[in-house]
Amino acid sequence: MATIPSNLQKPTSNSLSNYTKIVSSSSFDLRQNLGFNGIGFRHLSLTTHGKSLQTPLKVVLSSDRTECANNNSVIHDAVPLLSSSEVIEKLRAYRGNHESKQNYMAMYSSVVGGITTDSSAMVIPLDDHIVHRGHGVFDTAAIIDGHLYELDQHIDRFLRSATNAKINLPFNREQIRSILIQTVAASKCREGSLRYWLSAGPGDFQLSPSGCHQSSMYAIVFQDQSPQLQEGVKVSTSTIPIKPPQFATVKSVNYLPNVLSKMEAEEKGVFAGIWLDDDGFVAEGPNMNAAFVSKENEFLMPYFDKILSGCTAKRVLALAEGLVQKGIIAGIRVGNITVEEGKGAKEMMLIGSGTLVRPVVQWDDHVIGDGKEGPVAQALLNLLLEDMKSGPASVRVPVPY
Ligand SMILES: Cc1ncc(COP(=O)(O)O)c(C=O)c1O
Repeated sequence: MATIPSNLQKPTSNSLSNYTKIVSSSSFDLRQNLGFNGIGFRHLSLTTHGKSLQTPLKVVLSSDRTECANNNSVIHDAVPLLSSSEVIEKLRAYRGNHESKQNYMAMYSSVVGGITTDSSAMVIPLDDHIVHRGHGVFDTAAIIDGHLYELDQHIDRFLRSATNAKINLPFNREQIRSILIQTVAASKCREGSLRYWLSAGPGDFQLSPSGCHQSSMYAIVFQDQSPQLQEGVKVSTSTIPIKPPQFATVKSVNYLPNVLSKMEAEEKGVFAGIWLDDDGFVAEGPNMNAAFVSKENEFLMPYFDKILSGCTAKRVLALAEGLVQKGIIAGIRVGNITVEEGKGAKEMMLIGSGTLVRPVVQWDDHVIGDGKEGPVAQALLNLLLEDMKSGPASVRVPVPY
């Protein structure tokens, strides 16, 4: 006898057909064979081919789950109504039960006007325009040895993105900078990442942000346990369309093309997809820029007018000057790069704040150079790592813990 919880509504003919649809077994499908025998919901027996089922069934009352087990438990899939303290308890349990490669160490929210180090309280309102319409922008900064790397460069881009997304700033630049530094200080994190968002804010679920009370800002500090790998990777040309320049140049939360491109790369067994722009020139990867060393030994990078202006790529361009002076590269050129030139390059690399400088050894079927990590990529990575650890004050902001 399978019982259905009494707190469920009386079935309509539609809901009854839903139940017959969803009841199935792992060993045999009951969908076609089951009939309901009872009157109402409280005592319902199930029959198959006219015979009463002897073993109690686990009935899952959900149209998208097909689960049925021959055990004594009956799932009462009624959704509980929780008090706010129960919600907090559940959020804490959720965090406790779900391991992540990342530790969330502190979060700032302008909605609550403060910082929390309790990961279960790191939440944002569902009616925030960033959540239900993607009307938000974000940026990052690495925390290295108790310093924020290129914080000001990232904040500049953050504010440019907000302007392009027509998001009013909830605070001025100095206040934003101070909030970010205080969030890192509260986290006590000395090696990790800072990520932060600006949004049109909470208010309602309309398309227009006119009902949003006030733009919001959020920030999080996290530590990533994944090892930072340096060996050469393969890439493939992305078949997911690139964002048009108006959107590709803004670091908004609309990363669906980027996510799909990364997933496509993973399905192909490569590290990342490479986007080409509308004219067929090399553009960028889903969260990194691309660069090359030409046959003439020039360091090449695509223009930034149709792609995201990478803070790391720009810093690498500055650091590469040192390699020109040492005669390791012949020069630096930012411009249009054809696929032919890219695939025929001596070296190719991916550059970004998460990736740092990652050599590429193969693009589609083309082996890049001699198929090994190149010396220029290695030299640039070393320069970047050194800059992160002991660069000038313009790129290293100390955190007052
Ligand atoms: C699309 C895209 N291009 C390039 C980059 C590299 O930018 P940055 O060096 O500032 O991290 C990113 C970073 O996330 C990105 O999302």
